[in-house]
Amino acid sequence: MILLAAGLLAWAFAAPPPGAGSFAPYDSRAKAILAKMSLDEKIGQMTQADSASLKDPSDIGTYALGSVLSGGNSDPPEGNSLKNWSDLYERLQARTRNTRLRIPLLYGVDAVHGHNNVLGAVVFPHNIGLGCTRNPNLVEKAARVTAEEVRATGIQWAFAPCVTVPQDERWGRTYEGFSEDPQIVAQLGEAAVRGLQGSSLANPTAVVACAKHFIADGGTAWGTKHGGPGPGPGLDQGDAQVDEATLRLIHLPGYVSTLRAGVATIMPSYNSWNGQKVSGNKHLLTEVLKNELGFDGFLISDYDAIDQVNPDYKKAVEQSVNAGMDMAMAPDTYKKFFLTLRELALEGRVPMSRIDDAVTRILRVKIAAGLLDANYQGKADTTLQAKFGSKEHRQIARQAVRESLVLLKNDGKILPLAKTAARIHVGGKSADDIANQCGGWTVDWQGLNGGKGGVLFPGGVTVLSAIRQTASSSTQITYAKDGTGGEGATVGVVVIGERPYAEGFGDRADLALDAADVAAVKNMKSARIPVVVIVMSGRPVILGDVLDKADAVIAAWLPGTEGAGITDVLFGDFAPTGKLSFSWPRSMDQVPLRTRSGAPLFPLGYGLSY
Ligand code: BGC
Repeated sequence: MILLAAGLLAWAFAAPPPGAGSFAPYDSRAKAILAKMSLDEKIGQMTQADSASLKDPSDIGTYALGSVLSGGNSDPPEGNSLKNWSDLYERLQARTRNTRLRIPLLYGVDAVHGHNNVLGAVVFPHNIGLGCTRNPNLVEKAARVTAEEVRATGIQWAFAPCVTVPQDERWGRTYEGFSEDPQIVAQLGEAAVRGLQGSSLANPTAVVACAKHFIADGGTAWGTKHGGPGPGPGLDQGDAQVDEATLRLIHLPGYVSTLRAGVATIMPSYNSWNGQKVSGNKHLLTEVLKNELGFDGFLISDYDAIDQVNPDYKKAVEQSVNAGMDMAMAPDTYKKFFLTLRELALEGRVPMSRIDDAVTRILRVKIAAGLLDANYQGKADTTLQAKFGSKEHRQIARQAVRESLVLLKNDGKILPLAKTAARIHVGGKSADDIANQCGGWTVDWQGLNGGKGGVLFPGGVTVLSAIRQTASSSTQITYAKDGTGGEGATVGVVVIGERPYAEGFGDRADLALDAADVAAVKNMKSARIPVVVIVMSGRPVILGDVLDKADAVIAAWLPGTEGAGITDVLFGDFAPTGKLSFSWPRSMDQVPLRTRSGAPLFPLGYGLSY
């Protein structure tokens, strides 16, 4: 009752946070451009295609497209390299120069933990790990580096930060959330926007941020999965069955705080709220976000999300745009969206005032980002390319890794390890696997498979290689993936956890460790040596008796390319400071966290040190 009353109070008094009206100063310039635009040019601005689906790049001119994205699997056709990415950007951007009004594209990408689609980029820990740092300055610095690497490819828009507040760890997107706690999400989401957008969107290193996925994507009920790609009943894109007070208490603070930081775009979600798709909900998109909270940037739909609003596509577009959606992410259906919205506008089913409002919002952001400045060339910044994947950038990611580690157990104070140990035996499927270390949304949408580390990640360091680099030259490092052969070693280090996944593919009814992980720990322990277990996972997993077998346990989340951040802590150059961003369930009986009863294995905020 008290919670409800507090929620209602917050709801009644929600006022635009400072920063929410950031784009008003660009209104008159936007309106002047709008006055020159035809209906088709306006609808084009509201349309976003995927670079990989643009079979004919002249469609950018034909439909006067406002935006292009490169989705999780949309690498440049010439191959994945910094040069090919920036060439792709420049090539597509050049297409707009043949259009009547020469309005550049706002090009978007999922730079959600670094510029993670691009080989050689610095890959940061996923948000679940950053949440354990509780360090907004560090999150801001990480986002700054990401922005610089994104701009090195020319791209000016990142679909980040994700300010989801996952309430069910079975969800395959749990790792995209900073925490189960709305206040931690709000604080770190705000820091990420400050880092991405910098002090001014017009700066050459600024990137337009996008808070996602509005709203309650992390609050869906198991078994309500809708339209998601993965197997099983799941909860991706499902239904959040909560009253409005709860919706506001848990799922809104991340948007209020990112608005405070001046976030320029917000992505309405696939999910429903009490049975109605958020992407077609006028109350949430227009009344709450735009009117009540004063958001004057623009809304970009999630990938094909408008299609889910109604089985009849025309009705879906009508409802979504009238609800307040400003731009459609219509990756391979951009022509269909364009033609449908044009019909709806001509029939008066979507009023011109709504279209003008959407286009004004998009233009405001483009103007703020300097895209319409006379000196904007549509080129990638080659001076930034020199710093791409640099040592300097990696240092910040390494700091993020070591501050994200949570020490869960350290019996007999076996950690930190001595660098001069006679022999360290390493095992576990993730000890030498950069793909498992990075998780989903890395190079490919679902992440990489197989430890192609050295080849595919120039500069990426696995835990095994970091141990080799850090231990003394007299220390013998031995390795067996299955953890066997540890007899006689000073200590064993086993790195286990989840394999990469993204979105619905990561929905799992059972969060138990897999048999190979359990066996690797067992094998290591059977050598009668002290065992350190490092768990790399996108959420707390059920540890079972691995917790008893291990002398020390570190939760490392999905740390990214900088494995040396782990050895920083393992060998005691830095003491662990990470605090759990999610409470850790004892067994599946304590999942989901939303309805957890009894004390968890480790509470939110838990974390030991040396
Ligand atoms: C995801 C978004 C992402 C978009 C573009 C969608 O499937 O839900 O988080 O930004 O794809 O790749």
